[in-house]
Amino acid sequence: MNMDKQYILAIESSCDDTSAAVMDNDFLCLSNVTASQKVHQQYGGVVPELASRAHQQNIIPVVDVALKNAGITKNHLSAIAFTRGPGLLGSLLVGVSFAKSFSQALSIPIIDVNHLEAHVLAHFVKDDINQEVPCFPYLCLLVSGGNTQIIEVDSSNKMIVLGKTIDDAAGETIDKAAKILSLPYPGGPHIDRLAKEGKVTLSFSKSHIPNYDYSFSGLKTSILYTLRDKLKEDENYIKDNINDIACSVQEAVVDTLLSKFEKALKATNIKTIAIAGGVSANSLLRERFVALGNKYHCKTFIPKFSYTTDNAAMVAACGMFKFKNNEFSTLDLTAYAR
Ligand code: KG4
Repeated sequence: MNMDKQYILAIESSCDDTSAAVMDNDFLCLSNVTASQKVHQQYGGVVPELASRAHQQNIIPVVDVALKNAGITKNHLSAIAFTRGPGLLGSLLVGVSFAKSFSQALSIPIIDVNHLEAHVLAHFVKDDINQEVPCFPYLCLLVSGGNTQIIEVDSSNKMIVLGKTIDDAAGETIDKAAKILSLPYPGGPHIDRLAKEGKVTLSFSKSHIPNYDYSFSGLKTSILYTLRDKLKEDENYIKDNINDIACSVQEAVVDTLLSKFEKALKATNIKTIAIAGGVSANSLLRERFVALGNKYHCKTFIPKFSYTTDNAAMVAACGMFKFKNNEFSTLDLTAYAR
């Protein structure tokens, strides 16, 4: 414990992970504790009511461990940051209510954080004080379960969305393909694992839409119809070719993601690039993203695996920027789903 430092606690509860982190005013992450909810696996997707109940059970123990791991007590905190939205309303309300009441008990301010901005600012979470962080502006490809966006990040509070999906997100597309293959939810990590043993044998039709926007609904339908036709010819097609199917799906999604991102990169001529969000854990996407950065002589930032999916450390980074700018929230605010 350094008496010259200031510490914030951050809470993330937007979906099915209850997470708490402690960060100091140099953006050094002192703890990042996450309780994942296994209860949803049997339903093939997140059940909102079960998620809220699990958050209620998890939040106090998770915060307690986060404070202990950071080597501080609640009395050393200067503020509490929390995810206000977007996400599942019932899940968010648990984090919002906890942050408000804890801040009242400690007489410290609260800081509301947008979940997507937190993903984009995850690159500022430091595990080591000398760790390099991006310089503004940087171009960020945000790919999570529900969002696919190309964002020009001019500063911590000025982000311009250059392109976004007009229908499904990349993560949803991968999860849907995984469901057709009868893989457990969420399917992304399973597709990634199986693809390593396969090769690209199928090509799917992709949507062509203008500008930097994405559309994944055509690809999703094409995957469905292609596999349906293959199964008509051979009922064991999926079982016998699962690695190649996973590899083909992964290739199609990564290709789509990077072709639009490259277009935006050329147009903006920005020289620092980053990926963020759950799908940024994908090994092919990481590999190709680094190659793209090399091709355009960019400085490339790839998040640590623990900062790709939902986590409170990224909420702490976003919260720390706001803390330094004295951007505090009032108690009358509430969670928002969208
Ligand atoms: O950012 P995130 O944790 O949740 C949202 O806030 O949406 O992202 C979850 C998404 C899921 O679609 C999951 O299948 C995907 O990230 N994902 C992956 C991998 N790991 C997680 N997709 C592809 N490859 C992976 N290794």
